[in-house]
Amino acid sequence: MTDKKAYLTVEGLDEKMELPVYAGSTGPDVIDVRGLTAKGFFTYDPGFVSTAACESKITYIDGDNGILLHRGYPIEQLAEKSDYLETCYLLLNGELPTPEEKDEFVDIITHHTMVKESMSRFFRGFTHDAHPMSMMCGAVGALASFYHDSLDITNPEHRAISAHRLIAKMPTLAAMCYKHHLGQPFMYPNNKMGYAENFLHMMFGTPCEDPEVSPVLAKAMDKIFLLHADHEQNASTSTVRLAGSSGANPFACIASGITALWGPSHGGANEAVLDMLEEIGSVENIDKFVAKAKDKDDPFRLMGFGHRVYKNFDPRAKVMKATCDDVLAELGINDPLLAVAKRLEEIALEDPYFVEKKLYPNVDFYSGIIMKAIGIPTEMFTVIFATGRTVGWIAHWNEMISGAYKIGRPRQLYTGYPKRDYPG
Ligand code: CMC
Repeated sequence: MTDKKAYLTVEGLDEKMELPVYAGSTGPDVIDVRGLTAKGFFTYDPGFVSTAACESKITYIDGDNGILLHRGYPIEQLAEKSDYLETCYLLLNGELPTPEEKDEFVDIITHHTMVKESMSRFFRGFTHDAHPMSMMCGAVGALASFYHDSLDITNPEHRAISAHRLIAKMPTLAAMCYKHHLGQPFMYPNNKMGYAENFLHMMFGTPCEDPEVSPVLAKAMDKIFLLHADHEQNASTSTVRLAGSSGANPFACIASGITALWGPSHGGANEAVLDMLEEIGSVENIDKFVAKAKDKDDPFRLMGFGHRVYKNFDPRAKVMKATCDDVLAELGINDPLLAVAKRLEEIALEDPYFVEKKLYPNVDFYSGIIMKAIGIPTEMFTVIFATGRTVGWIAHWNEMISGAYKIGRPRQLYTGYPKRDYPG
């Protein structure tokens, strides 16, 4: 709470309404509008452009200056000095772990990576051409069926074990989606491997042959998970909070986050970027597509550009771009799509339409190119985003459930018929 107050006058009302103003540790103050309902008003904010729906201590974004902090630590420093599981610990617990705490956390996650064998029979119900995201929505929701003994959301230990299970099992389920699509046997996790290395082993290994997982690619995969770990109150995280506010179990809540992530305006953008680059095909065609993106009568948008919060470079995109260079050098790949991506970025950064609207490349612009180079098919890209983001979703869910919260229930501006009588 600050000493500041906001005052609202409404035409026709004599009384001036006084609204409390709260200050966060950084970022804009918020005006508490809860008292307006008693005065007969709702606020109107489609897309929640100006609405803070909760208080949170996990992640801070300054979109104008391209800053992203997890528990206060800049994303660039975490990407350089930390790793995915350490960042998971930080997001969940609020502080970086000591070496002993980190070892214990890695050990817990490593020993929860296996899924029940009946999960493999569950996967057989999907057709081979099912989109991996549809399998993920179903499989993650179905995890709740196996853990009746630890679904009491009022119990902090139950919440912690659910968080560990989710973080640990997401790569296993993600790889199962891919293997099911290929018609290959599922690979069991290998407890001797690190988180990202194990994921690549389950994706590309077979029972006949264990491929050598390149340390450079495992590191790049770890960075992709880390850069997607959390992003404040985005559409999928808000969906998880909303689902959780009804008291739903964490597996159901994370499944709801996966569904919200799927769309091309959010996590589905990484798949859409690759589709777009392939459609553009070569550098000569870029101008045509840029013109389409600027045409108000054409629904086409440059995928991987623009963001609701960032009106500057997405700091994750900068790290992703550097990782992309490392991966392409390691693999000796000279992908023609990269030339298209680079030229597109140059043009968009100079074009007055994109400059004036502050449309910069976002994280998804480069992540798709890296994943393609690693050999991951495009349909799996959003599944990988979901795998990395699971820790953010569960950290926000846990933060909400640990404190005071109300069921989420927005109001509306009703513009339909007023009451009328049924004819006859
Ligand atoms: N290409 C062309 N024009 C665009 C684009 C784009 N990618 N993005 C926004 N605009 C224009 C838009 O037409 C609008 O113009 P005007 O003011 O003349 O009507 C203006 O820029 C503002 O756009 P908006 O749709 O009102 O902004 P928003 O905050 O509602 O949408 C967005 C943000 C990310 C959905 C949008 O920028 C977009 O569709 N980008 C492409 C999809 C994409 O890359 N999404 C991944 C986001 S990063 C991953 C994640 O965190 O989810």
